[in-house]
Amino acid sequence: MKKIGVLTSGGDSPGMNAAVRAVVRKAIFHNVEIYGIFHGYSGLIEGQIEKLELGSVGDIIHRGGTKLYSARCPEFKTVEGQKKGIEQLKKHGIEGLVVIGGDGSYMGAKKLTEHGFPCVGVPGTIDNDIPGTDFTIGFDTALNTVIDAIDKIRDTATSHERTYVIEVMGRHAGDIALWSGLAGGAETILIPEADYNMDHVISRLQRGHERGKKHSIIVVAEGVGSGVEIAKQVEEATSFETRVSVLGHVQRGGSPSAFDRVLASRLGAFAVELLLEGKGGRCVGIQKNELVHHDILEILDQPHTIDENMYQLSKELSI
Ligand code: F6P
Repeated sequence: MKKIGVLTSGGDSPGMNAAVRAVVRKAIFHNVEIYGIFHGYSGLIEGQIEKLELGSVGDIIHRGGTKLYSARCPEFKTVEGQKKGIEQLKKHGIEGLVVIGGDGSYMGAKKLTEHGFPCVGVPGTIDNDIPGTDFTIGFDTALNTVIDAIDKIRDTATSHERTYVIEVMGRHAGDIALWSGLAGGAETILIPEADYNMDHVISRLQRGHERGKKHSIIVVAEGVGSGVEIAKQVEEATSFETRVSVLGHVQRGGSPSAFDRVLASRLGAFAVELLLEGKGGRCVGIQKNELVHHDILEILDQPHTIDENMYQLSKELSI
């Protein structure tokens, strides 16, 4: 392979820039031309493609967001859109593609692979919901952003002796809620992967109150439902003064943590290695701190799971 492309797609995540940098520098290290595709699959369809040089990715390792921009692209879900994308790649002589993103982006890479175009997926999403990797790029940074918020909310919650419901991102995955809830000492963690009983949530809060707790924190993943709705139910059932914080897109921004920068650098470079070895149709990950790769056609069929032991632990520690 003499020319490869790279794009970022879907919801951005801190560390995507570090991954792009790694892809670009690793390709150039091996004397391979590298092309940036801007605005994800929409930009691919429209031919927003530019050759990148070493300097193109200077001064970005520490920056959140993605220098290549990102987009969600319904057109790429159609065969027509996918074929237009392949035409653009061929027009530029690009022979392999690195796709950095979450499950929607992987779906696009899977489709390109099925059309015979070699792709390697790199897991970039704050949700940590890509099978075949212990961690996705951006999860650690998002987690630290959430922890920072929980710690601050805890201060004011204590002063006012209030209950707080903190809604975090994760439409289908509870990893951000589970990890941040555990690290933030939340009384209750609600995640889409586990059923919950509102009566149990209430009685747990009441038990804490009777023991003299001055505040309570409930972390809820957006996939479970609205934090506002849950807060309303809590207040009605307990008459504890309750407030809600929906953290929203603040979780997607910010300078990537050292962990995410290192992860992104390792995974980005590994994706290029695979393409250069002629191994398309793969997605990279890290498992037990080893770089691994899996068949991208199979990985999306695997369900996302949470760490059951960690979930159990979170319940045991918040009795
Ligand atoms: O996939 C990452 C993510 O941040 C999810 O946690 C969230 O549900 C979604 O993206 C929000 O997407 P958008 O920015 O398109 O509203």
